[in-house]
Amino acid sequence: MYLSNPALGTREAYVPGLTKEHVATTYGIALEDVAKLGSAENPFGPSPKAAEAVKAAMKIDVYPDWTANALRERIASKYGHSPEQVICGAGETEIIPLIIRAFSAPGDKVLMFVPAFPIYHMVAENEGRVPVYVGMGEDLDFKWDDYLAAIKDDVRIVFLTNPHSPTGRLMTEEQIRRVCEAANKQLVVLDEAYIHFSKTNGGMDLVKEYSNLIVLRTFSKVFGLAGLRVGFGIASPEVITPMMHLKPTWNLGQLQTAGAIAALDDDEHINKTVDAIAEMRAYVMEKLSKLDGYSVVGQPFSNFFLLKIEDKALDSTKVFNELLKRGVIVKDGSVSFIDLGKRYLRIDVSLKKHMDRLVGALSDIGSRA
Ligand SMILES: Cc1ncc(COP(=O)(O)O)c(C=O)c1O
Repeated sequence: MYLSNPALGTREAYVPGLTKEHVATTYGIALEDVAKLGSAENPFGPSPKAAEAVKAAMKIDVYPDWTANALRERIASKYGHSPEQVICGAGETEIIPLIIRAFSAPGDKVLMFVPAFPIYHMVAENEGRVPVYVGMGEDLDFKWDDYLAAIKDDVRIVFLTNPHSPTGRLMTEEQIRRVCEAANKQLVVLDEAYIHFSKTNGGMDLVKEYSNLIVLRTFSKVFGLAGLRVGFGIASPEVITPMMHLKPTWNLGQLQTAGAIAALDDDEHINKTVDAIAEMRAYVMEKLSKLDGYSVVGQPFSNFFLLKIEDKALDSTKVFNELLKRGVIVKDGSVSFIDLGKRYLRIDVSLKKHMDRLVGALSDIGSRA
């Protein structure tokens, strides 16, 4: 059988995080006690306004508006852009392939820091593009001189994630501007999936200055709608229009559009989530600073952090499996992120009871190593 690209024949298309149900039944732990800290979801659940709006939107016998226009208009007016500058998709994960297909050709290069959100390189490879990686070094920090030097003429797309995953590190506006200015032949993709947790405004206004910039946001994180599947991009119409040609025509249904519109203005839910995560982030950082054998990478500005396993008797897969037995699900860096090696776990900031379970389990694992 003809395969358009050998990358499509690899055995694992994606390694998903484990579910609470799986861990509860495998290890005999009460479902409500399992701490799911691997997918950066909202521990307070969906925006209540969004949940109500989804229930009220059960008009599923007619086709939705193919551009999700009502949502485009709300996003545009909230952030001070025009609807022609907005594209909506079934999560950022649907929008990223549209960017790669619209703004690069097979064989073209796509630049990213490594480690990074794996969808960037997976989609690039699946589409026959060539990922180019700039390493973050031993300290896992941005190497801006290397990054700027890597923006060569044969690179077509440049990815930035702010705050960065998996480290949670925050980029400054100045650093983002330098990339936009250096990328005079490239499109810059600024992925702001976790921006609310940094309590900064993010780079949406930069779209007015840089016509080569697209900013991505998702409803999966602070809005608590990961299961609904909605994300969006904001850029100049020259960037958005080609993507509208490529996108699956009716890519968002009525329920997604209604839920996202209601969530967008649910400031109560957003503020409650952001404040609780900030408080718990400080709490867990403090607790972890007292544990031997582990350290936290940098200063996280997201709803997760990267834990380094310093104890040479342990590695990330061992600790991952030991945490599972104790009802804690995290991300094993060696499975989820290329080039991260065997010493890192990405762990969500969540409710106090989950943070206490995590710290207790890490302490127990460390003491038995
Ligand atoms: C950096 C980053 N961008 C985007 C996403 C995915 O967002 P969505 O659920 O909107 O597809 C994630 C999900 O974990 C992420 O870590």
